[in-house]
Parts: sequence; C-alpha cells; structure tokens
Amino acid sequence: MRKINVFDTTLRDGEQTPGVNLNFEEKLQIATQLERLGVDIIEAGFPAASEGDFQAVKTIAETVRGSSVTGLSRSVQKEIDAAWEALKGGAEPRLHVFIATSPIHMKHKLRMSPDEVVENAVESVKYAAKKFPHVQWSAEDACRSDLDFLVRIIEKVIDAGAEVINLPDTVGYITQEEIRHLFTYVQEHVPNIDKAILSTHCHDDLGMATANSLAAIEAGAGQVEGTINGIGERAGNAALEEVAVALKIRNDHYQAETGFTLSEIKRTSSLVSKLTGMIVPNNKAVIGDNAFAHESGIHQDGVLKETTTYEIITPDLVGVSSNRMVLGKLSGRHAFKEKIKELGYNATEEELNRVFKEFKKLADKKKEITDDDIFALMTEEKAGEMVKHYELQTLQVNYGTNNIPTATITMTNPEEKIIQEAATGSGSVEAIYNTIERIIGGEAKLTDYRIQSTTGGRDSLAEVYVHVEYAGDEASGRGTANDVLEASARAYINAVNRVLNQKKWPRKNIEKIHV
Ligand code: KIV
Ligand code: ZN
Repeated sequence: MRKINVFDTTLRDGEQTPGVNLNFEEKLQIATQLERLGVDIIEAGFPAASEGDFQAVKTIAETVRGSSVTGLSRSVQKEIDAAWEALKGGAEPRLHVFIATSPIHMKHKLRMSPDEVVENAVESVKYAAKKFPHVQWSAEDACRSDLDFLVRIIEKVIDAGAEVINLPDTVGYITQEEIRHLFTYVQEHVPNIDKAILSTHCHDDLGMATANSLAAIEAGAGQVEGTINGIGERAGNAALEEVAVALKIRNDHYQAETGFTLSEIKRTSSLVSKLTGMIVPNNKAVIGDNAFAHESGIHQDGVLKETTTYEIITPDLVGVSSNRMVLGKLSGRHAFKEKIKELGYNATEEELNRVFKEFKKLADKKKEITDDDIFALMTEEKAGEMVKHYELQTLQVNYGTNNIPTATITMTNPEEKIIQEAATGSGSVEAIYNTIERIIGGEAKLTDYRIQSTTGGRDSLAEVYVHVEYAGDEASGRGTANDVLEASARAYINAVNRVLNQKKWPRKNIEKIHV
C-alpha cells in the first residue's frame, strides 16, 4: 500500500468559509483532535493575516507534537518572516508558500508577467528554505495553468528547495480525466520531480472535489489536502473523511492508504461542525446521520439477513457508536472523570470541576446523559472565550398566543455591573434579542439563525448558531442549553463577545486569500 500524506487545512481554507470564525481555544481544540485523527500536516492558519492568526498558529505549533504544523504565506518576504516567527517552535517547522500560475490570475490579479512570477516564486522558496527545514510550494489555480509553464516553474522551485509541490484546483473546475493528465504530465516532464512529493488540493464548486482528489492519487499524488466535513471557501474543499474512507473501502482499486485512525472520524467531524456552526447534512457521505440508516423495507430486510447487502461502510469503522446512556443523576465524580478520559479528553482538575457542575445541572433536567451530551459540555468548556465581555445571568420570557412576547434579562457588562432590561418582539427570540440589544447599548443585526438538537429525544440539548453584525464588525456565535430560548440568548451574547474580542486583534486586509 502506498502511504498518502494528509494535509488538513480546516483551520485555514476551512476557516475561510463565510460566517466561520474560530477563536483561539477552538482552533487549538480542533488541532488537537486532528492530531488524534492522524493528520500528517495541519495548516493552522495564515500567520501574517492578523495578530490573532499569528498567536493561534504559534500556540498550535508549540503544542502539537504528533503532526507537522504549517502556516500559509504569499510570496512576500515579510509574510515568510511572520510565518517563521509563528512556526519556529514547532516539532517540524514547515512553510506553505504560494503564487498564482494561471494566465487569468497572473494577468488580472498579480499583474505580473510569467517570467516575473517564476522569478518571484524561486526567490521566495530560496528565502524560505534558509529558515524552514520543510517548504511546500503551491501553484494557485494550477488546474487552469499552462502545462509547459507549470513544468518550467516546478523544476525551478524544486531546485530552490521546495520538497512538496501542490497543484490546487482553486476554483473547482477540473475533471477527473484532466487532473490525471495534469499529474501524469508533470511527472513525465519535470526532470527533478523525483526530489518532491506531488500534492492535490481540490475545491468542490462542481461537486467533484473528492473524486478529483482520488483521481490525482491514482495518477501519483503522494499528498492530499482538504478539510473535515469539506468546509471551505465557496462550495468548500475535498472532505478528508471521504477521501480516507474511500481509500480504505476501495484499497483493492487505489492500493493506497492514509494514516488516519478512522474510528476518530465521527468525533472530529462533530467537533468541527459544532465549533464552526457548519451543520453536517443528514445525507452527507461517511458521516451524515443517514449514512447508516436503511429506510426502505427491501433494504432493511437485506441488511437484517446480511449487512453487506446494502452497507459498504460499518458505523464502527468511522466511530459511530450506539451513543449509549452513560451516566445519570446519581453518577459520581470518579465515574464522570473516567468517562471524560474514555472520550479522549485531557482535562485539568479545574476544567473537570466546572464541567462536573454543568453535568449535575443537566442530569437534574435530563434523565439519560449520553456520550454526545458530555461531548457537548466538554466542547463548551474547552471553547471558553478569551474574554466574556457580557454574561447572561437570568432570562425570563412571557409568551402566549394572544400576548405580546416579552423578555426580561439580567446580564453582567464588561465592567461587571449587573444590568436588567425588558423588551418585546414579534416572537420570543426577537423579544430576547431586542432586550440584549438594549443592554449592550448598540444595534446588532442578526444575519443568520440556525437551531439543532445535540441528540435525538425530546429532552435533548438545543444548539443555536447565529451570525451577528455589531459595532462595525461581524461574528458567529453558538449557544447550548436545555431550553431553545436560553440557547438562543447564549448564542447571541457569544457572537457579541466574539466581535469585542476580534476588535483586540483585527484582521488585516488580506483576510481572504482567494480573489
Ligand atoms: O485553493 C487554493 O489555491 C489554495 C492555495 C492558497 C493553496 O487554497
Ligand atoms: Zn484552497
């Protein structure tokens, strides 16, 4: 079996998903889980983009030891320097530097001639290779680039010190036959290609990112890039869990495998979904809720007689457990601590104490506490905001079919003063949001609101995701509670707190890498 290196860009390309903004602790939590999943290279961010990105990449590089941590940089010395400062404490510092190579990008975006692009790419790789032991070079929009131009520039950047050559399908345009041809052509025409690993990075604009990644692997790619759940710019990136499971299930065909611990897939997917607010569709391949559900009578009958009739992936393979009832109201701290360990968390005593308190509160309201509930509580604990500017104290809502919905809320403000306000709205949620707006003393515009339950059952925890524009900035927020209205209030306050935290470390103009 050929080993395919997995390069995960959930924290960089994935974070470019509209409406997704992860805070420092959330990024660290995802990076730690990616390490547990067995990702070879974690792209932790774009260090030159903002002080926040810089600090997140630095902390991840210094914390994660089982995966190589990388950061993105344009072909600009100042950005390479920033990346080095962020990554130099890592176990295996690695730079990902890129420049566009397609005629469209060179002419309209870079306004550079092909010769200037070659010169710039070579200079940057040489400069980077003096600092970094590992340099990856990407030809942005490679799949719409001239093949002979690619051959010329790749040979030169390998000579300059690049050891991984990534050929992205930046706009999700290529077909399987074409990507196979591209990878074959490069291997047949670049004289020093044996000194580098070829990498594939596909976007999903035509719904072909996974198929194209697999086709590139068939044609010799030794590294595959993508994100968990396929999140990312526009229609997203190749979903890594799909690629890894396809290689596993069809290893007879591909003769290749990743180093993934496949049973960590479901956990990783749920964590990314929860923290980004990107809900996984029920019919999503490999990890969707319906991926293992058999609805029609003929299928059920077949599966009952022999599972392989309609099931090519077993739930166990990707870590979909029976989500059994684990703990209850009478469970003690010891059992709780063991459960947290079993779920793969490293919790400090302080964290344990706080989550145990939340668990007890939940157990008072909910009879059966499942793994998913504990996972939700632990995720919230680990994702604590850097600073809680506003905090919910009490919430009361008056609703009746013939009444005007009214909310009364008590919150602490950034000066830790307790403020109480009341307001009405056309519905309970609007009444809550109008009341919060009074307390924060500014207009906040709600641009997205989504709700889902953490588990099945009528006593499930509610999870609310919002996107809010406030004080000239915007952020997503998340709230979890037994009650949908409380979860709604918490999500809104969370978004406002994130806006205020972002103001501390504003992003520069280069927030979006793609044009
Ligand atoms: O899609 C793309 O081209 C990218 C590059 C920055 C590698 O994400
Ligand atoms: Zn990309």
